[in-house]
Amino acid sequence: MTLTQYVRNGWYLGAWSDEIGRTLTQRWITDIPVCFYRLPDQTVTAVEDRCPHRKYPLSLGHLNDEGTLQCDYHGYRFDGQGVCVGVAEQADRPKAALRRFPLVERDGAIWIWPGDPDLADESLLPDTSWLTDPGWTHVHGVVPLKARHMLLLENLLDLTHETFLHPTTIGNAAVAATPIDVTVDGDRVSFSRHMIGIEAPPFYEKSCGLTSPVDRWQDGDFYPPGIFILNIRVAATGTEEPEGFHMKVLYGLTPARGNETHDFYALGRDYLIDDQELTKFQHEQQLAVMQEDVYALEAQEVMYATDPGGKAESSIKSDLAALRGRRAVAKMLAREQREQHEQSEQQGARIPRSRTASV
Ligand code: FES
Ligand SMILES: [Fe+2]
Repeated sequence: MTLTQYVRNGWYLGAWSDEIGRTLTQRWITDIPVCFYRLPDQTVTAVEDRCPHRKYPLSLGHLNDEGTLQCDYHGYRFDGQGVCVGVAEQADRPKAALRRFPLVERDGAIWIWPGDPDLADESLLPDTSWLTDPGWTHVHGVVPLKARHMLLLENLLDLTHETFLHPTTIGNAAVAATPIDVTVDGDRVSFSRHMIGIEAPPFYEKSCGLTSPVDRWQDGDFYPPGIFILNIRVAATGTEEPEGFHMKVLYGLTPARGNETHDFYALGRDYLIDDQELTKFQHEQQLAVMQEDVYALEAQEVMYATDPGGKAESSIKSDLAALRGRRAVAKMLAREQREQHEQSEQQGARIPRSRTASV
């Protein structure tokens, strides 16, 4: 697997709403430094975190009460639209504007489109209403990962690894022993695994108050390039599934810089929603499971990064969803590169030869 370039024409989770306020916050996304902040009317804004003057990070600057952003190197000031409105000690206004990114703030999440703004299509975002549905409760956060986001994607699309990497929490032999069904719908890749009459893994036993045997369903949807949602249902064997326990896990797989990734997560449930003890337990378990993944993926990253020939990998049936996920991202990347190439060809054709001569 050699894919290290990033798709930019797609939605990524840029931040949780509660992370962004009147403090300037820098976060690298697809190799672009982004500065997030809120304007006085509370709308969130994201601009490229490089001052057009001498590239100083704007996130090291200041935001005044009117929502004017000031670069703290030489004093360029930008309004809420990112347009330069002045600079210290100079009457005339420099012609400069910040690159602003399309954003959608919904259900406590801030989604960012780092590519061509004309292509940003809100309808491509999945349903996340359970994050604010009063019948649900959830915990969320972000974990830093020093591994390329494709490794995290494959980790999530092949949950067979739960048996081996998470044996004391969410995995047991039943996971690896149960095959998955995989479907592809346009760019989206989905899988499902239904485990009937199995031993309850410790997390579910404690989380749902169930004793074995149980039925367990895993249905995962990958919305490329960087959103994954897992639907988890657990029920006492023989119970009708709607009577069971329902959980959802959302992952925002957001490429950061180089081969680093922001591993956003939200874990929700639709039962015992006021049980703070259970919430605490589930959050601790979620982070413990994620740390096991981080440990594995960072070890794997070193091996991919140092494999000189990129020798062909061996694959098995349970890799199918991950392979489809790889293909979906590769197709998006190829499409994006083709479009960029066509655009630059057209622009090149419009520029007179004299202007392209080197200076
Ligand atoms: S680098 Fe920002 S004002 Fe000079
Ligand atoms: Fe895992």
